[in-house]
Amino acid sequence: MTKEVATLVWIGDTDGSLRILDQTRLPREVVFRECHDERAVWEAIKTLQVRGAPAIGIAAAYGVCLGMKFAPNDERAFFQRLDEVTSYLASSRPTAVNLFWALDRMRRRAEALRGQPPDTIRKALLEEARAIHEEDRALCHAIGRWGERLIEDGSGVLTHCNAGGLATAEYGTALAVIYEASAKGKRIHVYADETRPLLQGARLTAWELKAHGIPVTLICDDMAAEVMKEGKIQAVIVGADRIAANGDTANKIGTYGLAILARYHRIPFYVAAPSSTFDLRLSHGGLIPIEQRDPREVTCPFGIPIAPEGVDVYNPAFDVTPAELINAIICEKGVIQPVNRETIAAVLNGAAENPTGPQRMLESSASS
Ligand code: MRU
Repeated sequence: MTKEVATLVWIGDTDGSLRILDQTRLPREVVFRECHDERAVWEAIKTLQVRGAPAIGIAAAYGVCLGMKFAPNDERAFFQRLDEVTSYLASSRPTAVNLFWALDRMRRRAEALRGQPPDTIRKALLEEARAIHEEDRALCHAIGRWGERLIEDGSGVLTHCNAGGLATAEYGTALAVIYEASAKGKRIHVYADETRPLLQGARLTAWELKAHGIPVTLICDDMAAEVMKEGKIQAVIVGADRIAANGDTANKIGTYGLAILARYHRIPFYVAAPSSTFDLRLSHGGLIPIEQRDPREVTCPFGIPIAPEGVDVYNPAFDVTPAELINAIICEKGVIQPVNRETIAAVLNGAAENPTGPQRMLESSASS
């Protein structure tokens, strides 16, 4: 993340707590929130204090550690508690698959230790959460290294929402590509969509890029077509919340529109995401669950009423960009190009971390 502030920090040992940078307060204030139980983590995810697919997964993994702190010693009751905690955390947000991936990984780690004393399992769970956290740092840097090759010196790069250090362990996915290109001496100018309704682009991406000294121009979402027409944009790079087996990609609402604009203007459109964001169980993007959020985010943003009372609102948090509009997907294993079922499978091959059965269970319990 930015050089100064870490998004997520575990403090202490198995009886510790999770410190979260409250992203709802940025850019005006840097405020941390300390979570001592799984309910606080659920709330932080739900209210977007911690947000962005990889960061949600990491927070949830630590949330499991918090939820298991006072689990009963009896094995049956211990694992029943684990079920409750993971299902509960899985109900916080539906779209980012990293959440279910991380929870599934935590469950599998505990299951493998059945028969061991609860303290041993608790230690292992904290180890696993720390591993998920550490691995994400490495993945983001690898994404940056693969992706920077696609960006030419002097490029204008448009991004949407925030897929930076704030949304991951550090460095980001889409922004990792920009950080890496800039570290290589390429002159990059970023155009950040403000990203209605919750303004992650204005509040977070612009803040994060400024902290890294990357030139950034903030635009309203509806200005993207014009800046493309004016020749200011040579590439679009966004993150992802879930990528289906055929490459259809769910990301922040507005991403699909950008991809259409990019195709019309013959500008390459890239998605950057770790392999934990792929959901190979879903054959196409139409199967990705899309989070619907509170209408007040649209009618009363940041507490300011801007629409007539009682007006009908539609507020999906994400949309799905069809694979055919995506020039390449950059993941830690390489660049997937062209984007289709076969190239995805080939690059991810060996990515055995992709979740299977138990995740399905967690997700169905989340939506019930
Ligand atoms: O609702 P948010 O802020 O969690 O949405 C985040 C995004 O859409 C990001 O682009 C995505 O999670 C990738 S983060 C590396």
